[in-house]
Amino acid sequence: MVHMNQGQGETSYAHNSSIQNSQQNRMKPLIEAAIIDLCGSRSTLFPEKMLIADLGCSYGPNALALVSTAVKAIINHCLQFQQPPPEVCVLLNDLPDNDFNTVVKSLVTLRQNNNKLVVVTGVAPGSFYERLFTSDSLHLVCSSNSLHWLSMV
Ligand SMILES: C[S@@+](CC[C@H](N)C(=O)[O-])C[C@H]1O[C@@H](n2cnc3c(N)ncnc32)[C@H](O)[C@@H]1O
Repeated sequence: MVHMNQGQGETSYAHNSSIQNSQQNRMKPLIEAAIIDLCGSRSTLFPEKMLIADLGCSYGPNALALVSTAVKAIINHCLQFQQPPPEVCVLLNDLPDNDFNTVVKSLVTLRQNNNKLVVVTGVAPGSFYERLFTSDSLHLVCSSNSLHWLSMV
């Protein structure tokens, strides 16, 4: 199994992923647009619960970048349309050898930083070439710098 260099050392992925982070920044407007599309502007369209997943999250600062954008976009949208925010579940996926210990600690921070809504967090270890989630459960799936990664041919 392949995995990114773990930990916080000089050669770790956490300290060598700024180029990937620039790619993620370019994706943010797309995620915000997807949230507006999902939530709509009429109260009848507002979902009560939303499940957001990132496929191939790795760990370190990039692991939460896309899902954080989605959560912030939900909060802003609800404030703008004066709607009660949905309960949000965030699930981060990567291969089992990923540094999920670090990921889990940052998930706690995500919850604390977004206390305007209920955010439930978790990890979904396994290959995205296999079944990871229950059917019809996902509202938004993000992925950056991962789908081209041929961990399986
Ligand atoms: C270059 S990193 C990208 C991490 C992060 N999304 C980013 O943009 O910085 C690619 C990640 O995809 C994961 N990955 C590769 N194949 C995978 C698979 N089949 N299932 C789940 N994750 C996979 C790797 O373990 C790695 O953490």
